[in-house]
Amino acid sequence: MTNQFSHGGGRPSAWCRSQAAGLERVDRTLAPIIYPAPSDPFDGWHIWDTWPVRNRDGTIADIDGYRVIVSLTTADTLLPGKRHDVAELHYFYSSDGRRWTHGGPVFDGGAFGSRQWAGSTLYDDGDLYVFYTATGSRGESELTYTQRIAGAVGGRVTVVPDGDEVTIDGDWRHEVLLEPDGTFYEREDQSRGMIYTFRDPWFFENPETGETTLLFEANTPVPPESGRCGGDPVQQEFNGSVGMAISESGDPMDWELREPLVDAVCVNQELERPHVAYRNGSYYLFVSSHKHTFAPGIEGFDGLYGFVGDDLRGPYCPLNGHGLVATNPANAPFQAYSWIAYLHREELLVASFFNYYDYVGESLDGIAELPESEQLRRFGGTLAPTLRIQLDGDRTRILGTLDHGHLPLPSESLPELRSFEGRTSRFVDAY
Ligand code: FRU
Repeated sequence: MTNQFSHGGGRPSAWCRSQAAGLERVDRTLAPIIYPAPSDPFDGWHIWDTWPVRNRDGTIADIDGYRVIVSLTTADTLLPGKRHDVAELHYFYSSDGRRWTHGGPVFDGGAFGSRQWAGSTLYDDGDLYVFYTATGSRGESELTYTQRIAGAVGGRVTVVPDGDEVTIDGDWRHEVLLEPDGTFYEREDQSRGMIYTFRDPWFFENPETGETTLLFEANTPVPPESGRCGGDPVQQEFNGSVGMAISESGDPMDWELREPLVDAVCVNQELERPHVAYRNGSYYLFVSSHKHTFAPGIEGFDGLYGFVGDDLRGPYCPLNGHGLVATNPANAPFQAYSWIAYLHREELLVASFFNYYDYVGESLDGIAELPESEQLRRFGGTLAPTLRIQLDGDRTRILGTLDHGHLPLPSESLPELRSFEGRTSRFVDAY
């Protein structure tokens, strides 16, 4: 694979302005428009960031015939814009990867933070490890935005015999696993930017080395005197990074910070929910990001962005030259977000949540100006159709979709793809 990545040879790899300047909505990166599904398995709930319970090797866990997902969840009577303030982890289960049943909250109290944000879940030899973002402090009377990476172990997942039911319960032991060190990773008091981040832990065991790693979203410290971004103080505020910690012993509750894998200084503030898919010697690193978190002068989109390298530590090269892998159509620019990719045989499957639809605006700020009933009506709050993507070295192409919330196991075959002829930005759910 050619890796013409121009990051100057140092670490972390940089996603630079000249690359991001090439971002554009073209067929290969353009997801079809989404319409609400005929019936919603998540009815009664708003769900957004979601992840499957996975094995150590990253594959989706098959727990006695069930697969389980964990989602940030609130009741669906809540104004969607308020959901981040009260988010909790709930689990849902399915025997066919299509119909999901609500299991309940993952934790029975005891989690760190005044609310819990995104993470990942490992199913290892019958033990369940839940990694999550502890945002704010438990019991605080005013919301704060401090973020720490936490983990919990000791719970159990059980398939109730003949009951067609999966339960998660037990005595969870919670620990704060990581806090920013101020050198590789900005602390909140160093932050000069719009939205501070230290969150979204993602467990990944390196298949080539066996190294146990935790990736996360963070920011690189950029002091004004650093001279970065040509000394432009406004650009310097955009400092998103993909962080990494390792567990020398392999114990999923014991981590040490390492240098970031990638940063986007002068380019983008938020590289959300980083995760890796490994295929044939290539590490595909994905993040979600927003239109409004790109630095001035760069036109980006709410989208899934990706990089490829032949070592987990990089260097990384942005996929398709600029990094964009999947975005929403211009006539529904906020219809989906928070993409999570996993390999299915030769294809990449990408789940996400159905966000605000029937809405075209410059940013989501306009949503808050709508009547509350409209804010509720236009929020999907459920899983979006799963995207099917072709990976070819450092190039990707959206091939089609599966139904809303369909998460197949590798043993399951996918439907035939329909042809692309005459494709425009509006096309049907599966083709
Ligand atoms: C992405 C995200 C995550 C965060 C969560 C909070 O959608 O911003 O980075 O953990 O939402 O709700």
